[in-house]
Amino acid sequence: MSYKAKFRVWRGDAGEGELRDYTVEVNEGEVVLDVIHRLQATQAPDLAVRWNCKAGKCGSCSAEINGMPRLMCMTRMSTFAPDETVTVTPIRTFPVIRDLVTDVSFNYEKARQIPAFDPGDVKPGEFRMQQEDVERSQEFRKCIECFLCNNVCHVIRDHEENKPNFSGPRFLMRIAELEMHPADTADRRKIAQDDHGLGFCNITKCCTEVCPEHIKITDNALIPLKERVVGRRYDPLVWLGSKLGIV
Ligand code: SF4
Ligand code: F3S
Ligand code: FES
Repeated sequence: MSYKAKFRVWRGDAGEGELRDYTVEVNEGEVVLDVIHRLQATQAPDLAVRWNCKAGKCGSCSAEINGMPRLMCMTRMSTFAPDETVTVTPIRTFPVIRDLVTDVSFNYEKARQIPAFDPGDVKPGEFRMQQEDVERSQEFRKCIECFLCNNVCHVIRDHEENKPNFSGPRFLMRIAELEMHPADTADRRKIAQDDHGLGFCNITKCCTEVCPEHIKITDNALIPLKERVVGRRYDPLVWLGSKLGIV
């Protein structure tokens, strides 16, 4: 069954913009990205939109749909009533380049600041991992870097001033993954707290709610990382050890 849907799409650039109304055909089984592509093909050839896989795997098509951070390619049109207006705006936490495309370089800068996996002197093939350690890493490695979690976190969503000191859930999760990896020799607790702003996170769990890969970011990464940091700071023996440089 085809029908005409009312779309309201943000059009503009870094300077100014507005929500513009369109009426676009929708066919059975389509997702929001299909409709945006039809809009581009029929009425708005200059509409800027970033996408790649159309399968929920590249993380490119992040947007806010009726105010909810989502992947456009994974949001079925059947989610909405046929007479409902579907509003599509760029993700809010990162600066707009044009229309639905934002500059997410903040995320790549934060990624570069995380020291790489450090297996010490262990040679490839010398280390055997427990299955539970493998599974923990695998959950975090499902991340497609859509940055919806960083987009939704209140610490930086409306607080540009926090960005230098907070890397967001995606990168705190990366630090947690490495910190809990049995073959990684680096102690990442201090950089998590001091350089990447773990203390800003007050466990609101909005990041977990929007993750399209259903990674339990808060419960499985951020809270365990916080527990490790607290252990280092408040355990007197650990504190003394760190002062003496032996922990
Ligand atoms: Fe996207 Fe989830 Fe990765 Fe965050 S953790 S960037 S929401 S896939
Ligand atoms: Fe932000 Fe997630 Fe913590 S939304 S406050 S990083 S639990
Ligand atoms: Fe790749 Fe949507 S186009 S995740």
